[in-house]
Order: sequence, then C-alpha cells, then structure tokens
Amino acid sequence: MDTGGRARKIGILTSGGDCPGLNVVLRAVVKSLLLGPGIRTVGFLNGYHGLVVDESVSLDYEAVSGLLTRGGTILGTSNTANPFAWVDMEPGSIRSPAANRDRAEPRDRSDDALATVKRHGLEGLVVLGGDGTMAGAARFHKLGLPIVGVPKTIDNDIRGTELTFGFQTATDVAVDAIDRIHDTAMSHHRVMIVEVMGRYAGWLALMSGVAGGADVILIPEIPYRMDAIIDKIRHRGQHGKRFTIVAVAEGAGEMGGSRVVRSMVAHSPDPVRLGGVGAKLADAIEELGGHAARATVLGHVQRGGSPIPSDRLLCTEFGHRAAELVAQGEWGRLVAFREGRVVTAPLEATEGGPRLVPTDHPMIKAARAVGTSFGD
Ligand code: F6P
Repeated sequence: MDTGGRARKIGILTSGGDCPGLNVVLRAVVKSLLLGPGIRTVGFLNGYHGLVVDESVSLDYEAVSGLLTRGGTILGTSNTANPFAWVDMEPGSIRSPAANRDRAEPRDRSDDALATVKRHGLEGLVVLGGDGTMAGAARFHKLGLPIVGVPKTIDNDIRGTELTFGFQTATDVAVDAIDRIHDTAMSHHRVMIVEVMGRYAGWLALMSGVAGGADVILIPEIPYRMDAIIDKIRHRGQHGKRFTIVAVAEGAGEMGGSRVVRSMVAHSPDPVRLGGVGAKLADAIEELGGHAARATVLGHVQRGGSPIPSDRLLCTEFGHRAAELVAQGEWGRLVAFREGRVVTAPLEATEGGPRLVPTDHPMIKAARAVGTSFGD
C-alpha cells in the first residue's frame, strides 16, 4: 500500500459491556501489526465516545505488554455512547450533564467520528464489541469507514459467530459459584437459585447449569411454569434429594408472563436492564411449594477477572486474524468462530437480533436425558 511516506496507522476501541479478554485482543492486534507489517495503533477511550470527542492514547508495544492475564479493558468502554444517536453523557455512566437525560434529544455525531479518523490519518478501525457495537460498525462501513469487528459478550448471542470471547470465562465463574452453592444447599436442605446474566439468550445459564449439575435450568428461550418447577423439587425430595439447584438466566420468563426488568437506561443501544427473576422464583417456591429457598445474583462478577486459558487462546487468534484483515485491507469483516475454526464473515452477519439457543440444541437434549428440568 502506498502511504505517501507516512507511517501506517489504525485505530482500535472497546465498546459495550466489558468482558474478560478485551485486553488480550488489544494485545494481539497491536503486537501482530507492529511485529508484522509495522502498522501502529491508536486506542480510542471509552468506546465510540473517544472516537466522537477524539480522546485517544498511543498503543505501542509497551502499552500492551502484560495484558494477557488482565480483565477489563485498558481503554475503558461505554454502552451508552452511540455516535448515531448521541446524548452528552459521562462515558460508561448513566449520568448525563443534561438536567433530565430522558428528555435530552439524541443527535447524529457520526461525522465527528469520521473526522477523528481522518485527523489521525488512520487506514481504518478495529472495534471490539457486541451487537450494538457491530450495528454501529456496519453503519460506519456503509458510510465509507474501513472497519473490522471482533465479537465479544458473555451472553454469547452475537449472530455470525458460534462463540464470542468472554463467554467461556463467564461460564467458568458461574460454574464455580454453582459448585459453592451446591455445598450450602445440601447442608441446609434448601432450594438454591443462581441467577446468571443472559438478556435474550440462555447460553450462559445452559452451559454453566449443565456443567454445574443444576437440577433446573431456566432460559429465555423456554418459558417456565411454576408447577413444573415445584413438581421437580417434590420429585427430588421423594427420592431422598432434599435440595435443588436452579440456574436461571436473568432474561427467563414465566409462560404467559414477562421478563423481570430492573431499570431502563435511556439512550443505550439496548435500554432494558434485567435482574430479579431469581428473587421472584425464590418467593414463589416458598409460597407455592413450602420449600426454603434462597437466591444469589452473580451479576457483574461474571464480567470481571482474568480470562481463562481457552479465552486467552481465542482472543489471541481473534486479534491476530483482525490484524491480518487490516494488513490485507479486507474491511467490512467480522472475525468469527465457526465449526471449530476462526474464520471471517461480513459485518452484516451480526444483524437480525440476538443468536438464541435452539430449543433442540444437543446440550438441552443431553441435559433432559440426565434428568434436568427446563421448567416446561
Ligand atoms: O450484554 C452483556 C450483559 O452483561 C448482559 O448479560 C446484561 O444484561 C447487561 O450486559 C448488563 O449491562 P450493564 O453493564 O449496563 O449493567
């Protein structure tokens, strides 16, 4: 590529809810580009916020050294900074300088983001994010911005890839919690409910539930019935099991009912914040079944901590693949994992809503075969 004698440079940002592995992908992209084609990387702070207001740091080799084991993101992130529907807001926070942020009128600041890219003389951008981030990336690409996406989320629900980074570590955290809950459930002969994240898709509840030996797994894709759950607890009791473990996704809902919404975050690409289904279940189990029940919400614990080895490996390969796309000038692509391999797909492959768990998924079949109830 003819760069007119200028040093080759790209930008990178981490956007949306954080997850383990963001730093590992940053490290892999920056090192691969430096040691390979000699392309330098500028990191924009707090997701798309840094791109719009032009806040960045130079990511040299030293800046990304030692990141393999570090959770979070050294660049910061935001799930409220949307360049196409911008509201002045503190990055990553729900506080807005506007007196009433719900009344603040969103405006399109995508031109400012494009101007930042031009000002820095960047060949293009690598964005690490979830579905909201990728929707923004696809729009920017259509506006002529060369862009590559790398899919992250602990929910594992991005279309176009069978695996997102962060999911495996979050599953590990949830399994560890379920194992611990198991001990205390057995001691006290209680029903213990573990509420894990998973807004629309039950991947995390399903995989951690099966690996942790949950007796009941409730996911958004399969509406539950209270009588089926009570029956399962009673049946276990009749067979000498005086405790029951329930793994529930925050987005699970009762048949004919709705999800338990905790709050709404205006101007977030997805404004709904969930939480509370575990407590609701515990109350219902005590009231309808007469069993002592307790709920534990794992919440953001699942999003922190050092990535486990399988995530470190995935992130390193994802980051390297993203760097290859940059070096080859293959823009508008998503790095993805399909059929056991790291591949690429068009950014538009992420469109069409969250990737849900098929109700005939082999893991659901296997779980049912070993006696797990899905509350249906
Ligand atoms: O999408 C990832 C996720 O962790 C969801 O599972 C959860 O509902 C949401 O983010 C929480 O977002 P926040 O960071 O706003 O609390």
